[in-house]
Amino acid sequence: MTGDGTRAVRAGLPEPEAHEPALPGPVFAAHYHLPGDAVGPYTYGRDANPTWTRLEEAIGALESPDESAHTIAFASGMAAISAVLFSQLRSGDAVVLPSDGYQLLPAARTRLESYGIEVRTAPTAHDAQLDALDGARLLWIETPSNPGLDVCDIRRLAEAAHHRGALVAVDNTLATPLGQRPLDLGADFSVASGTKALTGHGDVLLGYASTRDAALADSVRLWRKTVGAIPGPMESWLAHRSLATLALRVRQQSAGALALATALTDRPEVTGLRHPGLPSDPSHQLATRQMRPGRFGSVVSFVLPDKPFAERFLAALTLVDEATSFGGVRSSAERRGRWGGDAVPEGFIRFSVGVEEPEDLVADVLRALDVATRA
Ligand SMILES: Cc1ncc(COP(=O)(O)O)c(C=O)c1O
Repeated sequence: MTGDGTRAVRAGLPEPEAHEPALPGPVFAAHYHLPGDAVGPYTYGRDANPTWTRLEEAIGALESPDESAHTIAFASGMAAISAVLFSQLRSGDAVVLPSDGYQLLPAARTRLESYGIEVRTAPTAHDAQLDALDGARLLWIETPSNPGLDVCDIRRLAEAAHHRGALVAVDNTLATPLGQRPLDLGADFSVASGTKALTGHGDVLLGYASTRDAALADSVRLWRKTVGAIPGPMESWLAHRSLATLALRVRQQSAGALALATALTDRPEVTGLRHPGLPSDPSHQLATRQMRPGRFGSVVSFVLPDKPFAERFLAALTLVDEATSFGGVRSSAERRGRWGGDAVPEGFIRFSVGVEEPEDLVADVLRALDVATRA
């Protein structure tokens, strides 16, 4: 089996059994029948759950189709990120984070520093994190970065980090495992928020960490058990069900995002346009080498002249929800500066393309730009 779409449809399903569903329903259990010795696989609900097991096998098969990998599912992307950071780092260690990554990384930074961990930051673009690696224990990469959509060279950074004895984790949220496979590119961990494109319907919070190293997996799993950051069975089941359409969604969203970015290239009110699939994008060449063809993700970012203009634009859209998050089947957009966490101009828009027909979406966006311009 070579096709990602085929793999996504069957990933993690049990052997067919007469009169049983293809994907068994969620197992709601705080504890399991456990006569005699306290041995697994299922003992207590915070340790393990068959619905997680199936989902974890499925995600592992997508992140690492050619080599076995261990995946640990979490209650959210931040739970997964924190699990890797806090299970691997100790007082006196140094970690390199992106300076332009997800907006909660600074909060993680403060917490790490309070535990005596040195935190260094550098931008994603131009592989600038390379210069901060000496003596580091862990390199954290986010590519494409959110919301600026810069791309860094995972293989190059991973080789340099390993050379210095550092572990490498990649936040694969934006690309999804169908867009990019960090473990194949040399990373020790692929970590993601499953809340976004992986599940894609805007109705589930979820996260995961995948690794090929059993000892690393055990330490992350122990962290999950210790802090109790476990996914709910219902969320896990919904996520697994959603994986079957991941390839369809990623292809459609990537095509729509490219169509939108292309349509915005000659709009005078749009500056700072970024999308890794756009041939003129500064990241395009690297993204083409590192990401799967035609799967550059759902996000397009750009800058409108100022806050009032951006607000008029968002209000004039009819097919696009003004909402945070990205990767969902319904297009959404927001003025990212309203959160105050990212170093972006007031008119910066993060646009997430859904699975609508690209021509309908492009028409709606161009019309909303016209409305915002006329006002
Ligand atoms: C790149 C990235 N990583 C991690 C997260 C955190 O995920 P969650 O909201 O599921 O905790 C987000 C959330 O937006 C994100 O954009």
